[in-house]
Amino acid sequence: MKMLGLSFGRKMKVSEILVKAALMAAEKEGAEVSFVRMLDLDIRPCTGCGGCGNSLDRGGNGRCILKDDLHFLEESFLESDAIIAACPVYAVGPAGLYKDLVDRFGPAHDTCFLGKEQEKRVAAGKTGDQLLDARIFKDRFAGLISVGGAMTQNWVALGLPNMHLLTFPGNIKVVDQIDAYDQGRKGSPLLDDEQMARVARLGRNVAKACGKPRDTVEWAGDDGWICPVCHNNLMTLRKTTTVECAVCGIFGTMSIVGDELKVTFSEAEQKRSRCNYDGKLEHWTEIKSFGSIAGPKIVAAGDSLKAKMKPFEGYRELKFK
Ligand SMILES: Cc1cc2nc3c(=O)[nH]c(=O)nc-3n(C[C@H](O)[C@H](O)[C@H](O)COP(=O)(O)O)c2cc1C
Repeated sequence: MKMLGLSFGRKMKVSEILVKAALMAAEKEGAEVSFVRMLDLDIRPCTGCGGCGNSLDRGGNGRCILKDDLHFLEESFLESDAIIAACPVYAVGPAGLYKDLVDRFGPAHDTCFLGKEQEKRVAAGKTGDQLLDARIFKDRFAGLISVGGAMTQNWVALGLPNMHLLTFPGNIKVVDQIDAYDQGRKGSPLLDDEQMARVARLGRNVAKACGKPRDTVEWAGDDGWICPVCHNNLMTLRKTTTVECAVCGIFGTMSIVGDELKVTFSEAEQKRSRCNYDGKLEHWTEIKSFGSIAGPKIVAAGDSLKAKMKPFEGYRELKFK
């Protein structure tokens, strides 16, 4: 079993120490581990060019067409059975580099989009290099560590929930997570034995999941989270007792018993979480319908749309070069 550790923090600071401690514990469970310091890589933001999708449509591999270190990371990822990622909280959410990786990895690694394309190619009799890399579809697991300097969770609220965005396109099952806030007062994570023991447990939990079929692997992290699928507490409220898990995109019913708040999610809703295949399939179906709806509108508008766009071209743009 191969495990890839990613730190989005500074060299030999909190995130890096915590990921390496988790990897060391996983290694004792038999994992073959490797580590990448993400700040050493050149990862550019997604430009929304659509090159990954166009490549798929033309029989290519569907990978991002920007030329940078993403491709080095992609190969290590495809080789791995699990990832452990630690990211500092900057301004209440994960550091920007993390989101850049999410955007670059998302569409190009969506197991539903790629799975549908693979089905098409197999049905068309394609073989060998004409098929997508089979490693894309292997069951993978993750452990996530959000690192914050502030003393309370008030300043890390969007850290862990956003870290899940890296996992759902690849259908990677998160088995454990740690909200490692309050690092500012510690001096070093190595001076907190309890935290080091907890992060080692995360490493063992992820290692134990490796090689098992996805559906047989249970959540191994702490209890007490509101969402039973992603194990986060970030809900969208819309003025009724129906609430939405912001990470999964599923609906639950809220009730208050005494001073305790409960949210129940039906089995059907849990199944359609975007952390599961059905949720991704729902989105694939939705996206596939756009062309047939928007296309005729654009054709019907013809030159009138071009005329409507004219005033927007170059509008008050500052020249910087
Ligand atoms: C630009 C910036 C913004 C930050 N914002 C937050 C924040 O909103 N909440 C928080 O708890 N810590 C915040 N921090 C502190 C970092 O999360 C903390 O220093 C962390 O240990 C950095 O990770 P590293 O040690 O792995 O590099 C911020 C740090 C920087 C540089």
